[in-house]
Amino acid sequence: MDEQALSVRDAIITRRSIKSFNGQPVEQREITDILEDAIWAPNHGNRNPWRFVLAAEEEYQQFLDILRDFGIPKWKELSDETLEKQMSKFTNASAAMFVIVPEDARQKQRLEDFAAASMLIQNIQLLAWDKGIGTCWKTPGFLDDPKFRSLLGIQPGERMISMLQFGHFDESPKAKPRTAVEELVTFWQPTES
Ligand SMILES: Cc1cc2nc3c(=O)[nH]c(=O)nc-3n(C[C@H](O)[C@H](O)[C@H](O)COP(=O)(O)O)c2cc1C
Repeated sequence: MDEQALSVRDAIITRRSIKSFNGQPVEQREITDILEDAIWAPNHGNRNPWRFVLAAEEEYQQFLDILRDFGIPKWKELSDETLEKQMSKFTNASAAMFVIVPEDARQKQRLEDFAAASMLIQNIQLLAWDKGIGTCWKTPGFLDDPKFRSLLGIQPGERMISMLQFGHFDESPKAKPRTAVEELVTFWQPTES
């Protein structure tokens, strides 16, 4: 897809989570360029509460080989065929970026940091969409697996909140309808007392 330069509104309302990629490569540099812009997400105290582990290009293929043999407990009993079906959720993407946030001992800060990193992820998804690159925020159970965490160099006090997949795609999925705004908004009015 060509450079798009969508309006902010168009990027927000046309973006879809892409779960079926077409195998066309996404370069590491394209993702770090997107990240350069995405880090302008608001974050309280400018704590920059995020870091990233990126597997792209050749390294993504090596990552997939390790994931396949990883021995995720739930995958151990699977037949080869079912395992490959599970793996296809990952093999059809071209890259994955793990988003890591500090787990602040203070609840307020921890929530703020998670919220800020989520905004950064939305920035990434919109910027990628504008370039014709699809993404999907995935939270597979193995993100919290100690062995998997150590494979990615995750330190105590850190949490992986997203395995963000990148890839090109042929078709944009249909929009999933959202709950209507009028069902969600209460127009506050002062009560007489
Ligand atoms: C916090 C979060 C976690 C998600 N985890 C997964 C996941 O594990 N697997 C998946 O297929 N999609 C996951 N998604 C993507 C949602 O399924 C997707 O956003 C939703 O279906 C709405 O579709 P849309 O993004 O195309 O509008 C996640 C999205 C968010 C925000």
